[in-house]
Amino acid sequence: MLARRVVPMLSLLTTLGVWPLLVACDAGSETPLNAGASGASIGTTGGSASVSGTSNGGNGGVASGTAGGSNAGGAVSDSLAAKYVGFFPIGAAVGDVHITTQQDILVRDFNHLTCENAMKIADIHPTEETYNWAEADRVADFARQHGMKLTGHTLLWHRQAPEWMFAGVTAGDAATLDLLKNRLKAHIEAMVNRYADVVDNWDVVNEAISDTADKQYRDGAEGSKWFELFGSEEYIYWAFQFAKDALEAKAPGSSVGKLYYNEYVATVKADKMLKLLAWLKDDKGLTIDGVGFQSHENMTWPSVVDLQTAIDKFRAAGYKVKISELDVTVYSDYSTGPFVPQPAVTYTPDLAERQAKRFADLFTLYRKNKDVLTSVTFWGVSDDQTWLDNEPVPARNDFPLLYDDQHQPKPARAAIMNF
Ligand code: GLA
Repeated sequence: MLARRVVPMLSLLTTLGVWPLLVACDAGSETPLNAGASGASIGTTGGSASVSGTSNGGNGGVASGTAGGSNAGGAVSDSLAAKYVGFFPIGAAVGDVHITTQQDILVRDFNHLTCENAMKIADIHPTEETYNWAEADRVADFARQHGMKLTGHTLLWHRQAPEWMFAGVTAGDAATLDLLKNRLKAHIEAMVNRYADVVDNWDVVNEAISDTADKQYRDGAEGSKWFELFGSEEYIYWAFQFAKDALEAKAPGSSVGKLYYNEYVATVKADKMLKLLAWLKDDKGLTIDGVGFQSHENMTWPSVVDLQTAIDKFRAAGYKVKISELDVTVYSDYSTGPFVPQPAVTYTPDLAERQAKRFADLFTLYRKNKDVLTSVTFWGVSDDQTWLDNEPVPARNDFPLLYDDQHQPKPARAAIMNF
């Protein structure tokens, strides 16, 4: 289980789209959401990285060289990343613990990395004057050493945002709002300047869309200090503009393909996400490159049909999609609508096989959409290191990843290699 996780705040959400009631953990949304009435269980969505900036994953640049070469360490059949050359890069969210204990797995199976926590503002920029680069630098150096690329996750989020960022800022007061804008700009410039060589896509803004059906943006009542102090969604534009400017200042043209908006339950929020992208493009004159579907899924929700529909919408609008935080929980705590925590289960061979089938179905869908998918990133590597061991139910073992607690490959890994 993770050393540093934010404590989730459960919140009841009224809803979005077809489901009459949606319950979620605003642990960043990080928790599986489920639909009551339909009986479908919902997961959150999550994000990952894209490779080679512009081009759609394919492997743009990273994979063929790395996965098959420095990064693969064996025959194609032995490397997940190598197996997916020609489709998209395969990423993992990692931290110090993975670099310390799971280098062999990372080097064999992955050609893309995301810092699970180390690049979030509260972690990397704990006071206005100080940066805590150590863990992110370690991940970045590991990536450089093995020819991998990183997702920069995340430049702005309402969670894991430090108090100092908002200190002295008053909603509606233009002068203090400038203070906040300048702090955000300085943070983004520092991040881009340090990691531009190794980050091929940035989660510039994470989870800014409301969970409530008739509300477009997450506001102060839903935990966003950003929205509360700016008094509107204008902060989203500034984050993207600052990121674009910082990249362009390093090398003209280098922002192309790198600017992503990351969100959970993307099948439910797709239309709102498209509205955000259209606002950026039409009202603000800033076209970004794509969206991350976080993809914290469960065993049945969302359906591949709903995922396909959502992917098609972004393709039609001209945006790339990345699967940015994939895991598949074995629980469904919201299957009746309200949050009803399920008791811990034993991970039986039958459950492992059913989960493997679920992963196989998801990857069949991803492969079909390789023209628009820029990467698929798992939110972790092995079941002993997953945020889902503590959320939404504290101290309950979950088994959402490709490797087990002993770091042995699970049937899910074989299932997604088998095509
Ligand atoms: C969200 C965030 C991630 C992570 C997960 C859960 O999806 O985007 O950074 O915090 O929640 O761990």
